[in-house]
Amino acid sequence: MSEVIKKVAVVGTGTLGTQIAMQAANANYQVKIFDVNKGSFESTLHTIKGLEKLVPTNSWAVCQEKIQQMENIEAAIGDSDLVIEAVPEDLTLKLAVWADIGLKANPNAILATNSSSIPVSRLERNSGSPERCLNLHFYIGMNMVDVMEGTKTLPQVIKKGISWVRSLGCIPLTVKKELLGFCFNRVWRAVKREVLGMWANGSVDFRDVDRAWMIFNGMEKSPDRFGPFALMDKVGLDVIYDIEMVYYNDSKDPKDHPPKELKEKIERGELGVKSGKGFYSYPDPEYMIPDFLNP
Ligand SMILES: NC(=O)c1ccc[n+]([C@@H]2O[C@H](COP(=O)([O-])OP(=O)(O)OC[C@H]3O[C@@H](n4cnc5c(N)ncnc54)[C@H](O)[C@@H]3O)[C@@H](O)[C@H]2O)c1
Repeated sequence: MSEVIKKVAVVGTGTLGTQIAMQAANANYQVKIFDVNKGSFESTLHTIKGLEKLVPTNSWAVCQEKIQQMENIEAAIGDSDLVIEAVPEDLTLKLAVWADIGLKANPNAILATNSSSIPVSRLERNSGSPERCLNLHFYIGMNMVDVMEGTKTLPQVIKKGISWVRSLGCIPLTVKKELLGFCFNRVWRAVKREVLGMWANGSVDFRDVDRAWMIFNGMEKSPDRFGPFALMDKVGLDVIYDIEMVYYNDSKDPKDHPPKELKEKIERGELGVKSGKGFYSYPDPEYMIPDFLNP
């Protein structure tokens, strides 16, 4: 295994892959990226929210310059010390990508998934070397990262993962025993399930949930205020749906199935911030207007 992590590769540069690549470049790692959609990094960079909290805005051009976009996955991961997969939350797709990563990555590299809900234990076998695999789950616009081992992860892999996370200026949230949803994501997931159900059966206006959340969390005067529905818009409603399906497929409990009303929004192209409309309309969502908390 590489003694020191110097070179980092990110596979999939949508919302989170772009954030991770920028955070790594900002911490002076050499970063190579690969995405099947060539323009993904540039187009995402200008739409993702919260990056300015993690990487100073005046460093963006420098970081962007440092990040090398590669034509194929092999060129991105072949000599990297750490590979982070951030492709969509679809187990079949991730398994295929992990098989490819296993074949083409530097044999000494640590392999991580940024999945929001899939434990690395469900992907590790495809890499051919489960002992170097782990979950590194980043949060959009927040300086914390869940770290979770697979079934055979070596202790030094976890140790290196944790110190790498710290080197980005992030707080590692270490999960000591495999848990679907990791540490804080599990808490957030319980909130999502409740509020989506309340909205879908028409019990409440989603804006009232967000208002209550902002007041409860003392965000009234914060320029970054948000509630659960605003945050789901930032994440992407399609991504939220896929994540909820992972929980449902695990439990098969109908209460865990995301509501059909959410699917209908996605089918109408209402994906959140990235499509200009989700629960709110963008770029000037209603929840940011001063009177929102006092309608
Ligand atoms: N959006 C969030 O807030 C968030 C937060 C934490 C973790 N995650 C997780 O990060 C992962 C990515 O989520 P996202 O929101 O960035 O998704 P996204 O849809 O914004 O981006 C995914 C990217 O992967 C690319 N891609 C698809 N197939 C690929 C392949 N075979 N090889 C290389 N690139 C490929 C797509 O072109 C796209 O640019 C998911 O596992 C998700 O659960 C997302």
